[in-house]
Amino acid sequence: MKWLTLAAALVGPAQAALRFGCSTVSIQRLDPLVQPGITPSSHVHQIVGGDRFNASMNGDIGEEGRCTTCTFSEDFSNYWTATLYFKHTNGSYKRVPIMQNAALPNGINGGMTIYYTQQDFNTNGNQKITAFPKGFRMTVGAPTVNNLDQAKKNVGLRFVCLADKNTRFPETPDFPTKACKGGIMTVHHFPSCWNGKDLDSPDHQSHMYATTKEAFQAAGPCPASHPVRMPQLAYETLYDTTQFNNMWPTNGANPYVLSYGDAKGYGTHADYVFGWKGDSLQKAMDNSCMFNACEGGKPLKSQGVAAMNACQVKSAVKEDIDGWLPKLPGM
Ligand SMILES: *[C@@H]1O[C@H](CO)[C@@H](O)[C@H](O)[C@H]1NC(C)=O
Ligand SMILES: *[C@@H]1O[C@H](CO)[C@@H](O)[C@H](O)[C@H]1NC(C)=O
Repeated sequence: MKWLTLAAALVGPAQAALRFGCSTVSIQRLDPLVQPGITPSSHVHQIVGGDRFNASMNGDIGEEGRCTTCTFSEDFSNYWTATLYFKHTNGSYKRVPIMQNAALPNGINGGMTIYYTQQDFNTNGNQKITAFPKGFRMTVGAPTVNNLDQAKKNVGLRFVCLADKNTRFPETPDFPTKACKGGIMTVHHFPSCWNGKDLDSPDHQSHMYATTKEAFQAAGPCPASHPVRMPQLAYETLYDTTQFNNMWPTNGANPYVLSYGDAKGYGTHADYVFGWKGDSLQKAMDNSCMFNACEGGKPLKSQGVAAMNACQVKSAVKEDIDGWLPKLPGM
């Protein structure tokens, strides 16, 4: 596995890098960050993490959470993205199932792979990383992005056409243009430089600044306007397209569409609400553990796949999101 090989090759002083699985906690139309209090929200999301996920989220979810779908059992944060649908040439839509990633314990129900690293996907480093404070939230990308030039500039937001679950290159700013044998992966890197003051901002983005470079390169230094280096948060979501690959349209057009109606992928985006209990995330960032070695109380408490999968949030929206649908839910 590429990332484990690279990690093992590291030498010198190091601080923590986390990579872990979270199973699906809910798939529904809620968006507590961009459309708080609104049920249903405009489009379908897949959410992972703590069970306090709701249309409005104002409390300390790290203390209020009763269960989480993440490996680290003190992480009640919520992580979410749009979901993927297949559009048949007959006009019907079907949601593409989500599958677990490579190098995670077997049996995880869908979900995402979450990274809190120093600088990129596969190395740690020796910078001081300040954990997100209680109440912190942010988004990256925007469903309104509708052109390739802007998508290219969002270097942290990419698609990968998977030959298998270990494929990491090439990354593209838009959807693959042919059937991918091993599925499609979406990658969302958040900005990691904070202005040091605001838990959120009106656009949910300007309190943060991205120094992310193209995949697998260390990020640049934080600017004076946003001087505080936070963890490099990133999500990987793997879509199992195998049941649709023999239905690729004969005219060659990409049949996949994100749940807000985006068939190019330019508007790919993701949301984050911090919810680690107490100072657990800071403790991890100050440690020198790497990936699975941070589990089992060294220094983070962790749980097995059965407990992860057992944590669920019931949908607040009564609608079919999984049949063959005449239109995308909410569209
Ligand atoms: C979500 O909020 C509603 C209304 O406040 C409440 O009844 C419900 O129990 C909450 N759900 C969760 C999972 O916290
Ligand atoms: C489109 O094709 C799918 C797959 O064969 C089928 O289940 C669905 O009912 C079809 N939709 C329409 C409108 O014919």
